[in-house]
Amino acid sequence: MRILSGVQSSGKLHIGNYYGAIRQFVQLQDEADQAYYFIANYHSLNEVRDPKRALELTRDAALSYLALGLDPKKAVLFRQSDVKEVLELNWILGVVTPVAHLERAHSYKDKVAQGKSPDFGLFAYPVLMAADILLYSADEVPVGKDQIQHIEFARDWAVKFNVQYVPGYDPADPEGKERGHAPGILKLPSARIQSTTQTVPGIDGRKMSKSYGNTLDLFGDEKELKKRVMSIKTDSTPVEAPKPVPGDKPSDASLASDVPLYDLLKVVLPESEFRDVETSWRAGGKGYGEYKKLLLEALHTTFGPARKRYAELSADPAELDRILQDGASRARAEASRLMDQVRKAVGIP
Ligand code: ADP
Ligand code: TRP
Repeated sequence: MRILSGVQSSGKLHIGNYYGAIRQFVQLQDEADQAYYFIANYHSLNEVRDPKRALELTRDAALSYLALGLDPKKAVLFRQSDVKEVLELNWILGVVTPVAHLERAHSYKDKVAQGKSPDFGLFAYPVLMAADILLYSADEVPVGKDQIQHIEFARDWAVKFNVQYVPGYDPADPEGKERGHAPGILKLPSARIQSTTQTVPGIDGRKMSKSYGNTLDLFGDEKELKKRVMSIKTDSTPVEAPKPVPGDKPSDASLASDVPLYDLLKVVLPESEFRDVETSWRAGGKGYGEYKKLLLEALHTTFGPARKRYAELSADPAELDRILQDGASRARAEASRLMDQVRKAVGIP
């Protein structure tokens, strides 16, 4: 089984990225036969238009991955832009991509609804993402819930490509197991979602996202982190009273959580500690301030070692370059094998 995933380098990583994505990456590098992880720095150009910042954020994402436990001996870690074949596959997939699919992409519609005037790059974002996945014949793609549609697109377009270009391909038998059938050139990927932490809420209760400015950053300034934790949105329940617990669904659909402090504690605290929190939360007697302090401490304990490692790695840029170059050459070998087949299939010399 081959796992592949990527994170955009469009801002500093936050705990939503960690619990929604990176934590799974680290676990899976041991479970999967092969793991490919990359920094989606072409995708990030949609948001980061300052070249210096684009370069910095790409390195920062690589550092963050490594500090959080990604092991370049177990997984292939690379920059999207180091494998130019992805742009070639992006184009070739584009010729079998219905515009109607792109028009109903949630990520695109959300950004437009937020008032962003769409450029082609934003519109075509899912095509490049599909190329990222299909180029390496990934079986499973660990991502947060918001990315499921993108993986479904990648499957759809892989089928379209195979139907168009692979003689004997039958979508009902994509691996060509039955007699007379041929396997697809592009392998169909599946999304892999971690169900307990599908959406980590930000300090305002909306989904934690760098575009909302409601994040708790993994490697940011200590003082800022404290300030953010202390400003997590709460109601005016008095100290003695039992605190409200989140319902099955937030009453307001734009929120990821009605009670973000509770849900953040649930995500960050070890299970046994959270059980104690839950008891006192329901009984009353503790104020929100105390719970916030508890969360801050838990963040320090959980991410302290990673912060230390991040500082060490930052001090050795040559080592990071070496790791990235090694990852790039391993990724390129795989990409070039697939692209040979793709070019031949479509008639590109
Ligand atoms: P952002 O929303 O901050 O721009 P990205 O879109 O770059 O984050 O997300 C990178 C990865 O982290 C994706 O796999 C995404 O699903 C996951 N992720 C981001 N925010 C959250 C969140 N609040 N909860 C769970 N997973 C998240
Ligand atoms: N769109 C993903 C995100 O917002 C990043 C990404 C780009 C990605 N290409 C990918 C994730 C391929 C998984 C596989 O986080």
